[in-house]
Amino acid sequence: MAKHPTPMLDELEKGPWPSFVSDIKQEAEARAKNEKGLDYQIPVDCPEDLLGVLELTYHDQETHWKHGGIVGVFGYGGGVIGRYCDQPQQFPGVAHFHTVRVNQPSGKYYTTDYLRSICDLWDLRGSGLTNMHGSTGDIVLLGTTTPQLEEIFYELTHNLNTDLGGSGSNLRTPAACLGKSRCEYACYDSQLLCHTLTNEYQDELHRPAFPYKFKFKFDACPNGCVAAIARSDFSVIGMWKDDIKIDQEKVKAYVGGEFAPNAGAHSGRDWGKFDIEAEVVDRCPTSCMSWDGSTLKIDNSECVRCMHCINVMPRALKIGDETGASICCGAKAPILDGAQMGSLLVPFIPVEEPFDEIKEVIENIWDWWMEEGKNRERLGETMKRMGFQKLLEVTGIDAIPQHVSEPRNNPYIFFKEEEVPGGWTRDIADYRSRHQR
Ligand code: HEM
Ligand code: HEM
Ligand code: SF4
Ligand code: SF4
Repeated sequence: MAKHPTPMLDELEKGPWPSFVSDIKQEAEARAKNEKGLDYQIPVDCPEDLLGVLELTYHDQETHWKHGGIVGVFGYGGGVIGRYCDQPQQFPGVAHFHTVRVNQPSGKYYTTDYLRSICDLWDLRGSGLTNMHGSTGDIVLLGTTTPQLEEIFYELTHNLNTDLGGSGSNLRTPAACLGKSRCEYACYDSQLLCHTLTNEYQDELHRPAFPYKFKFKFDACPNGCVAAIARSDFSVIGMWKDDIKIDQEKVKAYVGGEFAPNAGAHSGRDWGKFDIEAEVVDRCPTSCMSWDGSTLKIDNSECVRCMHCINVMPRALKIGDETGASICCGAKAPILDGAQMGSLLVPFIPVEEPFDEIKEVIENIWDWWMEEGKNRERLGETMKRMGFQKLLEVTGIDAIPQHVSEPRNNPYIFFKEEEVPGGWTRDIADYRSRHQR
């Protein structure tokens, strides 16, 4: 018998999609039975009280979490999102309901042994509820009490060899697409870069030293499977410099219908016979492809590496051999001054261990933004306020046409004094000697 009636939530047990309500109820039951005989360190009915307070929220259409919450572990300035219920008498099981961010492996590959050990820890010291994973990438352990935080941290570090993730005005947990582990489009090892930079910048991740949050994300090609360009202040996106590799025999196999276009992604509907002209050549954004009925040609000097043709004919077309990445900066959500996607800063950078070129760009940006960024101002906003030119100067990058989608069309152009013959110091009397009032 459930602790609280939940008529509205019960509705969400209907339908085909996996129901979070059914799952939470299942966990509530498992805790009530306690077949392993655990000495639960937080209230056994925590999941039931969570359903209770959620039902109340559905009824009131208002959240029932108090404002904020500052908790954590010694040595770190972030990693735990403190949270308290605003109806603690009615729902004592969630009076404290803190979230622990745990750093996930790049690409989120697990062994069952590892996941079991996390679950064993969380069953005992937490609610038994999780988020796999937070949008930034962390394993999110949802709901525990303050006294358990150090206990969890001790077990995570000593037994599971695992650290917390980031929160606050610092480097947040970096994340990568699965990259070379199982994608033939990967232009660099996004998991390795993610893992290496996460380790390199542990201090910046655990102890907030920035004007605001800062995120890294790593996509190994422009398809953007981890959405670096939209969800990270510093986005590294795989790229190649040389030619797309074409296997003409396999192109013919696509045209002949032997291979399904887009690896069969549109097989749920009849789109007719594959038409290489209509589906590839005519869709190339720069019109740099041609098909004469037997040979596919690409003018690579005009190719913008959009991925379309490769995505449609993965067996016939391959990324080039001279691979690396582009770096884009400044993506952020709307608060305060409007949403931004990353703006191209470095068109091409080599991505090889120990990644010194990339670290140099990162550290030059941090040196600047840490001094000049205003309180709670994202990098993207600092770029808007101080100008893209400033970002180029501090990173030592020369301006090139690739830095803009179009040149400015207003003429409010600043010149540096040293660029202008004669400088800014002028004498009006000298002017009057030639021009009477
Ligand atoms: C109560 C908890 C949270 C609050 C109050 C919060 C607040 C915010 C705010 C204010 C922004 C916009 C930042 C800006 O535009 O400058 C943001 C963005 C974001 N947050 Fe959270 N957040 C919370 C929890 C989380 C969690 C648990 C995750 C994932 C682990 C997460 C991931 C993100 C992502 C991916 C973005 C968008 C990308 C970006 O602009 O950084 N947030 N959050
Ligand atoms: C060497 C000659 C001229 C110079 C250097 C000059 C310069 C300027 C400047 C700097 C502005 C202000 C722009 C702004 O703040 O957006 C302006 C505005 C304006 N000028 Fe001239 N101007 C010249 C001749 C003329 C002439 C001959 C006319 C009319 C026959 C004229 C009509 C206007 C008007 C109507 C505006 C206001 C436009 C607006 O604000 O939208 N100007 N001018
Ligand atoms: S971003 Fe590109 S390389 Fe990475 S998984 Fe997606 S398609 Fe593959
Ligand atoms: S990658 Fe894009 S731009 Fe380049 S040839 Fe293919 S479709 Fe055209």
